[in-house]
Amino acid sequence: MKPIVLYRSKYGSTKAYAQWIAEALSCEAMDAKGASADILKDYDTIIYGGGLYAEIIAGASLITKNIDKLQDKKLIVFTTGLTPTDCREYYDGMVIEKNFKNGTKDKIKVFNFPGKMIISELSLVHKTAIKTLKGIMSKKENPTEMEKMLINLCDIDADLSDRSLIKELIDYARAQC
Ligand SMILES: Cc1cc2nc3c(=O)[nH]c(=O)nc-3n(C[C@H](O)[C@H](O)[C@H](O)COP(=O)(O)O)c2cc1C
Repeated sequence: MKPIVLYRSKYGSTKAYAQWIAEALSCEAMDAKGASADILKDYDTIIYGGGLYAEIIAGASLITKNIDKLQDKKLIVFTTGLTPTDCREYYDGMVIEKNFKNGTKDKIKVFNFPGKMIISELSLVHKTAIKTLKGIMSKKENPTEMEKMLINLCDIDADLSDRSLIKELIDYARAQC
């Protein structure tokens, strides 16, 4: 197995998971900012990690847009986010639906990890987005369970990243060779 771990990370949680995974697999972890598909050709196992922003996995189009060039590779994507990872309706429904169109979901194994949100570290744009989202959701008269969950997520001010959670991904990656 010749793996590489690529990631996009604004606040550091995805980068931390990428580095833990790379360490466990004795391979390189690389920031995918500005990367093209050419970088992927020397590896047989591509592990891509991206933070979730409005359900979109940051930078994952590097994989999904180049899926035809990656037919002979093992493809693993991991997300970091604040939605509890047991909320499968969210991950298996909304996240998969938005990020893996045109059959790409059948070619990629996806893992979900808890990320972090430290309010004082957020950019002004992100701070405003979270505040606005909370304001809109809180005004709903009969919020759905999903909307209630979103309101609660807006108040998280913590780092939920946990190295022990990479085990399943590592076992899966190792089993691919
Ligand atoms: C503006 C904004 C939007 C976000 N949207 C989502 C989301 O849709 N789903 C989710 O689970 N987490 C969401 N999060 C939480 C981030 O995914 C979480 O902070 C993650 O750790 C970010 O990855 P990074 O630390 O590598 O940048 C959002 C955070 C911000 C600031």
